[in-house]
Amino acid sequence: MTAVGIDAIEIRTGKLRLDLPETFAPAKGEDPGKYAKGIGIQYSSLPDVYEDIVTMGANAARELMDRRGLVPDDIGRIDVATESAFDNSKPVSTYIAGCLESVYDGDFHHANKGERKFACLSGTQSVDDAYNWIRAGRNRGRAALVIATDTALYARGDPGEATQGAGAVAMLIDEDPNIVALSTEQGYGSADETDFLKPNQQFPSVDGKRSIQVYLARMREALEDYESVAGDTHPDDFVYFPFHTPYPGMVRKAALLGYRHITRNTEVEEALAEDIGMQPREGDYGSREDYEEAIRGYMDELKETRRYQEWYERAIDPTVDISGQVGNWYTGSVHVARLSALRAAIENDVALAGEKLLVGSYGSGAQAEIHAETVQDGWHKEVDAVDVDQQLDGRYDLSFEEYELVHDAHNHEKEVDVDAFTQPSGEFVFTGWGRMNERRYEYVE
Ligand code: HMG
Repeated sequence: MTAVGIDAIEIRTGKLRLDLPETFAPAKGEDPGKYAKGIGIQYSSLPDVYEDIVTMGANAARELMDRRGLVPDDIGRIDVATESAFDNSKPVSTYIAGCLESVYDGDFHHANKGERKFACLSGTQSVDDAYNWIRAGRNRGRAALVIATDTALYARGDPGEATQGAGAVAMLIDEDPNIVALSTEQGYGSADETDFLKPNQQFPSVDGKRSIQVYLARMREALEDYESVAGDTHPDDFVYFPFHTPYPGMVRKAALLGYRHITRNTEVEEALAEDIGMQPREGDYGSREDYEEAIRGYMDELKETRRYQEWYERAIDPTVDISGQVGNWYTGSVHVARLSALRAAIENDVALAGEKLLVGSYGSGAQAEIHAETVQDGWHKEVDAVDVDQQLDGRYDLSFEEYELVHDAHNHEKEVDVDAFTQPSGEFVFTGWGRMNERRYEYVE
């Protein structure tokens, strides 16, 4: 069976950044340690006033197409995943295609375009759609462009404000991919939840503490479902575990639970037992409460073991590095986690071709999806070409007062006139509204 997966990847960060421990925490009268250590985000990326989900998506896509020497005829599908759309009818992919057509010869008139919604999960669902389209043989030799783009903004004063971010990830999905091939096996954990939602409103209604529990519950279900088709997982089966990362602290919680699950009934559990005993089994306890208390005790000890910490440092830490520098990119977040891990592998000279990743995606509302990916021979060259450092280092540092202005400028219910903080160059920019209230864009040389 021909491998299908991610052939190229590009990101575009919002061009502004807010330093959470140094700028945000003091303005809120909070301890910087909450952000630097607890939440784990140093900087939130934010969009300048001429940036939005279309410009970030189109700029990432253009970079990817240019690097790979692609023209519109090479693309048979443009799927945009977002939960920050500004139109209930016209998909963002049409705006992005319009931008791209203004700089390339040819057009995307014969490409299928759409927009996917399921909170942060839809980036992965769009990759899935592309995978299925190629596997079904309907692609006529063409590749799919998947663009996950979001401005993850919360109402000011909402606890979620600490996890904001803005950016886009463009991915080329094709046969014989250069970066990773996707497994046929998938697991799902899905339930009707009201933990995070945006009922026709720009900023989310969030029950933050509950959203954490729902994330963990759905991920666990998805892992069990994945194992039911792919067989039991073991910590050594996968070199990295890129998970949806609303903030690194969330992944820290998920990793500990996941490790307990994947080491149960293995030689790792036996080896750990010498120091912390075997994992509690429900049948050994008189009540559910006693059992849960025993689990909490086991987890507290597990997290302090050298074996767990070494696994975490090898398999999880590298996945959250970029997230800690940009915040939550919603639909793009798990794809940033994968990129982060692959970049760390380059930095640390880890040979990855043929190795496997276990990828856990999640969207509030809620659904988790887990699948495996096999790293392909061309991964190093493709990943090395992404200018992550240049983009992150080039961001403008906002003061707290400037941050409030930027937040207001992107608030659909406010009309404020704010000057741009950066100078656009060689990119698509938002220029204002047209006569039918459509958003308008142009390319700035
Ligand atoms: P909060 O209540 O302000 O923060 O909001 P906290 O008091 O819980 O502190 C956060 C962590 O920092 C805690 O760590 C503290 O202990 C620690 P934990 O106990 O949880 O491990 N801390 C400190 N550490 C060191 N030094 C200190 C210090 N102070 C505190 N001085 C919350 C946190 C995540 C609830 C909030 O930011 C929020 O509501 N965020 C938005 C919702 C969210 O991100 N949920 C995550 C799961 S749902 C999801 O991932 C989906 C999502 O991406 C959307 C989608 O799917 O579309 C959000």
